[in-house]
Amino acid sequence: MVDKKTEGLAGIQAGETAICTVSAEGHELRYRGYSIQELAGGASFEEVAYLLIHGELPTSSVLEDYRNRLKSFRELPSALKLVLENIPKTAHPMDVLRTGCSMLGTLEPEGKTRDHFAIADRLLSAFPSMLAYWFRFWKEGKRIALNSGDASLAGHFLHSLQGGSVEEARRQMLEVSLVLYAEHEFNASTFAARVTASTLTDFYSAITSAIGTLRGSLHGGANEEAMALISRFRSPDEAEKEIKVMLSKKEKIMGFGHRVYKECDPRSDIIKKWARELSKKAGDTVIYPVAERIEAVMWREKRLFPNVDFYSAPAYHFCDIRTDLFTPLFVMARITGWAAHVIEQRANNKLIRPAATYIGPSARAFVPLQKRG
Ligand code: ACO
Repeated sequence: MVDKKTEGLAGIQAGETAICTVSAEGHELRYRGYSIQELAGGASFEEVAYLLIHGELPTSSVLEDYRNRLKSFRELPSALKLVLENIPKTAHPMDVLRTGCSMLGTLEPEGKTRDHFAIADRLLSAFPSMLAYWFRFWKEGKRIALNSGDASLAGHFLHSLQGGSVEEARRQMLEVSLVLYAEHEFNASTFAARVTASTLTDFYSAITSAIGTLRGSLHGGANEEAMALISRFRSPDEAEKEIKVMLSKKEKIMGFGHRVYKECDPRSDIIKKWARELSKKAGDTVIYPVAERIEAVMWREKRLFPNVDFYSAPAYHFCDIRTDLFTPLFVMARITGWAAHVIEQRANNKLIRPAATYIGPSARAFVPLQKRG
């Protein structure tokens, strides 16, 4: 019998990592030893990406080179643009990134001239471009240029997605959000990437597995579900009443709870501040108060706290980002963590292949089709 406590591999040490620590008590998240509060408060997303993938923070000259390198990778091959133009308007943008990643793997395969560091940088720059290109093609019938000139990936994405100049508060929020979403130890999508990498397959296959895993509503998809939930209510009182009904029916409230954290998600307060600030700027009197009331009810009724996804949803919403683009934003950030883990897995590889407890029928004799009637 599998122990209920370890179902879903909960609490199982499935390997070693030098990339990230997540404390079960909920007070600490560190990337390569640096606290998330310090990184979110003082480092750009590009610095964090470099830290995760290369192991140390860059010096200013290394960072400048890194930014320039990432900028040079923003353009997409025309064959990939053609594929993006053929993905239906109705497709989920996560499927766009999954397909785009796979297609890029056929055009620029891993090999002697392209190692995993080069592909990590390429995907980091190409994901925002893929998303914006596909989105604007279907929304406006435009084939947008992908050379926005913005120094940061966050600015480049907002500029490419929305056109015109980028509001500084929005750019800063997105930068912080990308830092918060960049890495989280052996979460489901990262573990999927490591399992895939452990077969010695190529880098793109590992990342494609990870994107598919992140898409689900129990993982990255929760930010979209949280927005759908918050937008259902016209007032905090209505939210309180309905959330209580949902809880009485044992329904899951998306954006709450966590497999590892038991008291709080240290990323939540950081993004909550941005959600509050952007709500004020937008003159909102419903969305943010509703979100805060849901938080209060969840704590009072279930002792459950918001995870990073809950307040990311209104923060993105106030940047006029369409809800189905929320989980893809997570991909744009988490590609850094996935890349770091694939590289780490390869450095000391062992095929990941657990065992299972068999609960099916006991041994029985095969009966040929003719005798089965
Ligand atoms: N709403 C209501 N009840 C919840 C919630 C929730 N969001 N989360 C946990 N619970 C309850 C469960 O119903 C269960 O109650 P029970 O013991 O009475 O049956 C208990 O808390 C334990 O929940 P599990 O789902 O078994 O805990 P697990 O560790 O497997 O789940 C998970 C963690 C999947 C994140 C869960 O909290 C959940 O489904 N949350 C909503 C989805 C979500 O927000 N996902 C994002 C996670 S963070 C990220 O990926 C960035």
